[in-house]
Amino acid sequence: MVDAVLGLQWGDEGKGKIVDSMASDYDIVARFQGGPNAGHTLIIGDQKHILHTIPSGILHPKTQNIIGNGVVIDPGTLQDELHSISAYSDYRKCLKIAHKAHLILPTHQILDQLSEKSKGKLKVGSTLRGIGPTYADKIGRNGLRIGDITSTDFHSNYTNLKEKHLDIIQRYYQIIDEKELLADISKREEKWFEGIELIKKIPLINCEYFINRALNQGQKILAEGAQGSLLDIDYGSYPYVTSSSTVSSGACIGLGIAPNKIGEVQGIFKAYTTRVGGGPFPTEQINSIGVALCNQGREYGATTGRQRRCGWLDLPLLKYSMMLNGVTTLCITKLDVLSGFDELAICTSYNINNLDTDEVPYDLNYEGIKPNYITLKGWKENLSNCNKRQELPQATQKFLGVIEREIGLPITTISVGADRNQTIRL
Ligand code: GDP
Ligand code: IMO
Ligand code: MG
Repeated sequence: MVDAVLGLQWGDEGKGKIVDSMASDYDIVARFQGGPNAGHTLIIGDQKHILHTIPSGILHPKTQNIIGNGVVIDPGTLQDELHSISAYSDYRKCLKIAHKAHLILPTHQILDQLSEKSKGKLKVGSTLRGIGPTYADKIGRNGLRIGDITSTDFHSNYTNLKEKHLDIIQRYYQIIDEKELLADISKREEKWFEGIELIKKIPLINCEYFINRALNQGQKILAEGAQGSLLDIDYGSYPYVTSSSTVSSGACIGLGIAPNKIGEVQGIFKAYTTRVGGGPFPTEQINSIGVALCNQGREYGATTGRQRRCGWLDLPLLKYSMMLNGVTTLCITKLDVLSGFDELAICTSYNINNLDTDEVPYDLNYEGIKPNYITLKGWKENLSNCNKRQELPQATQKFLGVIEREIGLPITTISVGADRNQTIRL
């Protein structure tokens, strides 16, 4: 079966850490969607690795890692990542890339920037990695795929798509300095083609056959999500979302497996909520609480370095994500970050036009959504050395118990620090 690890909020829930801590139990770890908009942080002692495209099982020599069909790849970023892990991983032996994964072109990144700029205040807050324009070309049947890079037509197909993008840029966006634009593109292209040459040295596979054969041989596979359910293109807080299916069904499309091959679905959520970029956030705390969460949780984006917006845990959204994903096991992360607050709040429902509901409304942007909170006593103790749930302070255990009661599923993994080993499993 293919188990999945997915973020249940707006991303950055700690997926990378949890996947890394589980990877030695799996034969294969596979990314199925997203691209270098993701930033997955792995901390092993004094080592810190931030992965954008490479699956988080890469530091385990016996685990194969697959960048699946549903992923979009920027060869330049991938090259940087490969260089940064080369001292820790023999990636030529344990990394494979799906033929059908799409390529992010330098001009996709420029289109992303121009699209965001043209939206003014309504911008999505994209990571500007070219994700939206690349998926748009995939759906529009214009894209270039990894499997194309060895074709004799590759360069001319690249040029055709680039010309198409330049045409769009000229028609729809006011370019002040065309010379500067072309110089920017050609600088990006240099790195891009270097990355393409490096990719040619990595085994390229028919992912759907590779994974299904592995399944038939009884191998254990872990699908690693990127972003979070609330950034899903269909079910997230549209239009403030990413451009791929981040929910568990996305693993079927992105890896080429049937729905009945999905096994356990582990949902990861932070003990509070964060979001980077624009869009609605009902429990956001634009006050000293938000500042404290940001400081204590070191909430700065792993990809762009932007400060993450912070707020309380939102259970209507968590239950919504659990429903969409068919979550079977739950993991709470960053519980240690809540130490030191006198009082903690959890949103258990919304009040919308004087009616209480725990159903997430169609338009999360609606200003009349007021979170209903329960408040709980905080704790002062440092949790980062706790190894068992019973070792957690009474107030922490109560906090976990209230969440479990409200959502109706036990929490079986508790993360109390960024290190691989700071993980309590029940
Ligand atoms: P991802 O995108 O879901 O993989 O998460 P990120 O790596 O973008 O962000 C999570 C951040 O929190 C990273 O800096 C992690 O090192 C860190 N982290 C993960 N789990 C914990 C935890 O339980 N406690 C603390 N304090 N930090 C954590
Ligand atoms: P991981 O995998 C948090 C957000 C961006 C922006 C929106 C669209 O590390 O959890 P995009 O670049 O996809 O066009 O941006 O989605 N976003 C993320 N936020 N974590 C991520 O990935 C994200 N990937 C994209 O900030 O609001
Ligand atoms: Mg991240």
